[in-house]
Amino acid sequence: MSRTSTPGASRTTRTTTSTRTTTHPRRRGRALAATLAGLALTAVTATVTVTAGPAGPASAAPVHEDRTPQGRTLGDLAARHDLAIGTAVDPAALTDPRYRSIASTEFTSVTAENAMKWEVTEPVRGTYDWSAAERFMAFAERNDQKVRGHVLVWNNQLPAWLTEGVASGAIDRAELRGILKKHVQDTVRHFKGRVWQWDVVNEAVTDSYDAVDGRIGYKGFWAEQLGPGYVADAFRWAREADPKALLFYNDYNIDAFGDGGPLDKTAFVYRMVKRLRENGVPIDGVGSQAHLSTRYGNYSAFQIADTLERFAGLGVATALTEVDVRNLLPAEATSDALNPLLQAQAFDYSALLTGCLTSRHCISYTVWGFDDNHSWTNTWDFGSGPGREALAAIYDTGYQPKPAYRALQADLAYSAPPLVQRRIPQRPTP
Ligand code: G3I
Repeated sequence: MSRTSTPGASRTTRTTTSTRTTTHPRRRGRALAATLAGLALTAVTATVTVTAGPAGPASAAPVHEDRTPQGRTLGDLAARHDLAIGTAVDPAALTDPRYRSIASTEFTSVTAENAMKWEVTEPVRGTYDWSAAERFMAFAERNDQKVRGHVLVWNNQLPAWLTEGVASGAIDRAELRGILKKHVQDTVRHFKGRVWQWDVVNEAVTDSYDAVDGRIGYKGFWAEQLGPGYVADAFRWAREADPKALLFYNDYNIDAFGDGGPLDKTAFVYRMVKRLRENGVPIDGVGSQAHLSTRYGNYSAFQIADTLERFAGLGVATALTEVDVRNLLPAEATSDALNPLLQAQAFDYSALLTGCLTSRHCISYTVWGFDDNHSWTNTWDFGSGPGREALAAIYDTGYQPKPAYRALQADLAYSAPPLVQRRIPQRPTP
């Protein structure tokens, strides 16, 4: 494994701009305030009364709205860059008023952490269950948040009827291809006009540490069953179902280019996207998940910017789609042990955001859960035991902002032209 590579999920498991034009009154007010504050970021304070909506703050108590940079939300601060700031959301956690309040106020984009995955939406063949996804969508729509649809084609979290049907031979390849097309198109049509970016294909290729015959290649269920051509098929099927959504390829460990050789995953994905574009496949974006860990040292903002710019050179938008930064937990969680980790973590979050800000085609920055209580890293085994690499989020378990959160605020507040300019919107490829 290279110094900078991050053990990803698969290693341990194996097995337009918004399509909506309406603006929520609360968001409209904040956007106007952000515009007025502009570059000067004048410190203005005022006391306002926020009326609690179904997804709004827990109470209608007066809120002292602090207009200093550190008093403003990430979403507000990002608005003048036209950058969406997102989070993964667990609909079950929305019953916690503190979770709901942060999820609805800090972020201008949301991704369903699990609720739109195939095992959830079609647990029984032919019977869709959109209930969890619709709870998530209702939350997003109440808060005027852009939606990243996650995920149409992935090797994980597939329904048992599908994997067992293939394993037993009851479903053959021709039927499987038809099933995949139906899944992609039914899902995209169900949410048509409500999803800004779709993760059409997720994590399709190997890493350096599980490369076969010394080279990166396609991996997993779909490539094994249908061959790598399923990638282009999935994008074409999704485009037929929604001409306006932005269609993304999404993966981890593509934060920076390596040596360009057979074990350089970023270079492999780059060549794949280049070929897809040359062949007229409607791919509009590349999502770099950015699941990092402070134990690896990671990247500078310059490397992130360079990578995003090189992808943008292919004519696609980019997005950081699942940002989090784990810490290998010390034996004793003293402040002496934790503080350097939290500072290193803030550096990584900041390098990713600065890299994104300087690339005008980087249109969203999404964290994969915002608090240490709900992070997927708490239960995952990255090789040192479940939950040993954790504390990956920007808020702590008590919903207090960590140094990483403050670093993001500062980056958003103090970045300005000429090096940081407004985003260039991506148009869907016909
Ligand atoms: O739904 C069952 C529930 O019925 C059961 O009681 C519970 C007991 O463990 O498990 C529940 O399923 C869990 C599921 O999340 C929903 O909570 C699975 O065990 C658990 O493995 C699953 O983890 C998700 C993981 O994807 C699966 O691969 C994480 O929450 C989710 O954050 C993670 O997200 C992925 C992205 O989709 C793609 N990129 C990597 C990222 C992190 O792995």
